[in-house]
Amino acid sequence: MTTASFTLDGKTYELPVVRGTEDEVGVDITKLRSLSGAITLDPGFNSTGACESAITYIDGDQGILRYRGYPIEQLAEKSDFVETSWLLLNGELPTADQLKKFRAQLTYHSMIHEDMKKFFEGYPPNAHPMAILSAMVSSLSTYYPDTEDDSYEVNIVRLIAKVRTIAAYAYKKSIGQPTIYPRNDYSYCANFLNMMFAVPAEEYKVNPVLVRALNMLLILHADHEQNCSTATVRMVASSRANIFASISAGISALWGPLHGGANQAVLEMLEMIHQDGGDYKKWVVKAKDKDDNFRLMGFGHRVYKNFDPRATILRKMSNDVLKELGISDPLLEIACNLEKIALEDPYFVERKLYPNVDFYSGILYRAMGIPTNMFTVMFAIGRLPGWLAHWKELRDGDSSRIYRPRQIYTGARERDYVSIGDRK
Ligand code: SDX
Repeated sequence: MTTASFTLDGKTYELPVVRGTEDEVGVDITKLRSLSGAITLDPGFNSTGACESAITYIDGDQGILRYRGYPIEQLAEKSDFVETSWLLLNGELPTADQLKKFRAQLTYHSMIHEDMKKFFEGYPPNAHPMAILSAMVSSLSTYYPDTEDDSYEVNIVRLIAKVRTIAAYAYKKSIGQPTIYPRNDYSYCANFLNMMFAVPAEEYKVNPVLVRALNMLLILHADHEQNCSTATVRMVASSRANIFASISAGISALWGPLHGGANQAVLEMLEMIHQDGGDYKKWVVKAKDKDDNFRLMGFGHRVYKNFDPRATILRKMSNDVLKELGISDPLLEIACNLEKIALEDPYFVERKLYPNVDFYSGILYRAMGIPTNMFTVMFAIGRLPGWLAHWKELRDGDSSRIYRPRQIYTGARERDYVSIGDRK
């Protein structure tokens, strides 16, 4: 099957067919408009591929997720976030020497310019940290101007190194505590936890259980092929905007409650159900009611029509970590009950709505002491290497033309201007 044919107004056209590594089939419509004058229409891009990519493979029906061919289950269990970031960026697992050098680079670049600390003083105490993160990431381009763009490798390291520091500083600012500088003797995740929770007055002991859990959480969020925020990063990168502007745009796209903002919305939903007496069945009924705009946040997915493998890992992790920490969280019980009842309900079964990555992640962030409005920032920290890998793949690619979709116009036909005195 090397071509697909279709007929329009009695004329038949042949279009080439591309086949992916796992035998996915795509009709290449690059020449469709020049051949037939017609375009395709696919609001939400349900059936439209924006590019070919070698970074991540998802099979939504089988619940499969692989980064550069490695199953997410194996990476979550055996790798750590820095190693997985290298894999996504470079296509192969690093050698011991490459990994050692990468870790050292991330340590070396973890500080932000002292002048950037002044930016935080202008924000109100209740400023949402996603607004701060997107603004600060874009502002990094003022310290590392475009001219360095040819050596974007150092800017990739700067972003992964500094995103933790910016996030932790935003948190410290929101609670009126002094910022804690990154330490050279701490690992990537331990450094972040220390910057978040250490206080100058006393020694903060980083809990290895939390370090392990944070590594797994960030690995699970590290990439997910052409999701909304990654497609946004590629869109902005295609105009040759600098890397900081592209990532800042991705952060803004992730913020939406239908996307990365769902993890904050899930926790707020669970807390609301808990405050309302824990009657989760009532809320499942509301989620099914077309006249009620309540949705079961953390449920459903454009691609996964089976379990999101990340949710499966996170459900087990939530139980294990809370047990290790000796925490019993009533919200976890409500989440498990919601999942159980939804998976037996025809409304969810018919629509193949399963828990997604955002359904359990908030339980773990909460157990770490991370506030709800920081949950999507945690998602951004995890997704950053994925965004950067896609930025690199587009920038280095041979078909990195500017993204410029077409449209079908449905507005007024041509008409003449009417002066204000003659308008009805
Ligand atoms: C992420 O794309 C990615 O890869 C994203 C992500 C990543 O790693 O980057 O996986 C991260 O964004 C996960 C998704 C987080 N969002 C949420 O949990 C928000 C709640 N879920 C939905 O809003 C929804 O399921 C989406 C946005 C995730 C998917 O939307 P789609 O594919 O456009 O599906 P849809 O809105 O057209 O829903 C199909 C049907 C509709 O019912 P009908 O009109 O057919 O009767 O399912 C219903 C929807 O009403 N539905 C839900 C529902 N999700 C879909 N009904 C109740 N509760 C829900 N959560």
